[in-house]
Amino acid sequence: GLPYQIAVIPGDGIGKEVMPEGLRVLRAAAARFGIALALREIEWASCDWYQVHGEMMPADWKAQLQGCDALLFGAVGWPATVPDHISLWGSLLKFRREFDQYINLRPARLFDGVPCPLVDRQGRPRQPGEIDMLIVRENTEGEYTNLGGVMFAGTEREFVIQESVYTRIGAERVLRYAFEQARQRRRRHLTVATKSNGIAISMPWWDALAAEVALDYPEVTVDRQHIDILTARFVLQPERFDVVVATNLFGDILSDLGPACTGTIGLAPSANLNPDRRFPSLFEPVHGSAPDIYGRNIANPIAMIWSAALLLDFLTRGEGAGRAAHDAILRAIEAVLREGPHTPDLGGDADTTRIGQAIAERVVAGC
Ligand code: NAD
Ligand code: IPM
Ligand code: MN
Repeated sequence: GLPYQIAVIPGDGIGKEVMPEGLRVLRAAAARFGIALALREIEWASCDWYQVHGEMMPADWKAQLQGCDALLFGAVGWPATVPDHISLWGSLLKFRREFDQYINLRPARLFDGVPCPLVDRQGRPRQPGEIDMLIVRENTEGEYTNLGGVMFAGTEREFVIQESVYTRIGAERVLRYAFEQARQRRRRHLTVATKSNGIAISMPWWDALAAEVALDYPEVTVDRQHIDILTARFVLQPERFDVVVATNLFGDILSDLGPACTGTIGLAPSANLNPDRRFPSLFEPVHGSAPDIYGRNIANPIAMIWSAALLLDFLTRGEGAGRAAHDAILRAIEAVLREGPHTPDLGGDADTTRIGQAIAERVVAGC
């Protein structure tokens, strides 16, 4: 058939180092499973481009992405030259909002061969299988708004307001999506992350809506937790969690904490989905541009590579060649995590390129 059109946006910092490895593995899997891809690399949506053009993206960015089926995204942010809120609101957050990518799927799993920083009550390190969760993050509204402002700046009356907005449509669709995911998993358990004691208007509203949607999913067990104790349980009782649904900001925080509990944030992928497929979806690591390690080629590329696998699965609707390609990449990641080599974040001394090569070789060889 026609090739899938994929826009490739490396962005900044280690985005530029992990993207070549994501593409290496994507190409290897596509070739092996006969999936035609047309990849187009884009240099805007980066702070380098901003420095020349004074904006993150060209005015016609949407037209330039016309016809594209998905975006593969590295990371954006270079706070030394561009303030983070400018670079992110001018790129990633714009994609999420304008392309209505209202679901952000963020799995966190403990792999064989990866040292786990958590121990159980007896002091034993957590084992693979004990941490296997899927964070479903609301991705277009909530705490991430531009509604508000600083007033009376520089006077003693100075104040700042930033509103949070939750729409019924927005909350209900992410809750339904999370219940659907939970229904298809072995444990069929959903945790709803709210904060209905302190945030006393919007959070009880979320709880009530979750209870209403739950009536349609009697096979899923639901447990509602305040976000504060929920973070403590991520650390102390991670085996309690299966699918976790959260508002935009809570989901952001949980999706760094969950992967940290599995050894490193360098493994965590994400899928920013427009499930209706009216707009392209975006696939990216959870992590950022990591200025502190950029330039040494030591970043872990697995989050990027796993994100590419999620892209293949979504593009082909979880069927046939795309699902097979996704599974082959996952098996190759598992094998490399189990047997090495490892990047420094996992205690090894292999570089970014070496990991990408090792995974690509296993994808080609079928593990
Ligand atoms: P970060 O995720 O970039 O880095 C946090 C820490 O994790 C750093 O110590 C970094 O070295 C380490 N780390 C991250 N990814 C790694 C990997 N693949 N392998 C090994 N170590 C890794 O978060 P930050 O420092 O808060 O943000 C840096 C910049 O990235 C900021 O500009 C921020 O706004 C941006 N950011 C962008 C995205 C995105 O594009 N999706 C996400 C998060 C942060
Ligand atoms: C993420 C990032 C972004 C977010 C930032 C860079 C705006 O942290 O994708 O997790 O907060 O969503
Ligand atoms: Mn984040």
